[in-house]
Amino acid sequence: MTDTGDERTTYQLRDVARRYGDGAGSVDAVRDVDLTIGSGEFVAVVGPSGSGKTTLLQLLGGLDRPTSGEVLFDGRDMARLADGELARLRRDALGFVFQQFNLIPTLTAAQNVEVALAPRGLPSEERRRQVGSLLDSVGLADRASHLPGALSGGEQQRVAIARALANDPHVVLADEPTGNLDSETGDEIIGLLGRVAADRRRTVVVVTHDTAIASRATRTIHMRDGRLVA
Ligand SMILES: Nc1ncnc2c1ncn2[C@@H]1O[C@H](COP(=O)(O)OP(=O)(O)O)[C@@H](O)[C@H]1O
Ligand SMILES: [Mg+2]
Repeated sequence: MTDTGDERTTYQLRDVARRYGDGAGSVDAVRDVDLTIGSGEFVAVVGPSGSGKTTLLQLLGGLDRPTSGEVLFDGRDMARLADGELARLRRDALGFVFQQFNLIPTLTAAQNVEVALAPRGLPSEERRRQVGSLLDSVGLADRASHLPGALSGGEQQRVAIARALANDPHVVLADEPTGNLDSETGDEIIGLLGRVAADRRRTVVVVTHDTAIASRATRTIHMRDGRLVA
């Protein structure tokens, strides 16, 4: 997706449901969800454990398909994309950040970011330049050669954010990105995600159960029992 800087819609969800299993033991993890997310919004999704936040984020990320309803990304129904198209969309347009950071422990901070750039086949000099600029943008230029184990939790999450931004995605999706961090460090990470949205008009969706963090977003969506609640 090209960012033309106008008021485009990133996501449109129409009557989306995701049911796990069937019959008596089935779980309606997400249901009755109608939702529009505009380009450049910084959205927090808040709700108690089990309310469907992760399931909703996975639907937005094309990591899962709704049982019924439609998830439109940039006007296209994600469930109707061919596997290759969906993989390309995930690689080029979406960046993911997780609670557990998910860095490769045997690679340095710079190499962890470089891995995400690999599919673009850039000349090595240009690739390294981009890695440097990505680490710089999250305030970690001086930690490039550190292994994850030698970084604090907050620093590891910054590396993960740099990695998520490697392909200049239009959307960043983060699932409890501060769940393993103390509140001060968590606040810094949310501040960083807010700048990610504001600086380049990216769309950022953060799942959190922390309402203090949610107050930093431009919009908060509350979930309960799989539904959006006012
Ligand atoms: N793979 C799965 N199979 C069956 N039930 C699931 C699965 N994933 C999640 N659920 C159920 O769906 C509901 C929503 O889960 P989830 O989206 O992970 O909520 P949250 O992220 O808000 O804690 C919960 O009841 C959970 O147990
Ligand atoms: Mg969850």
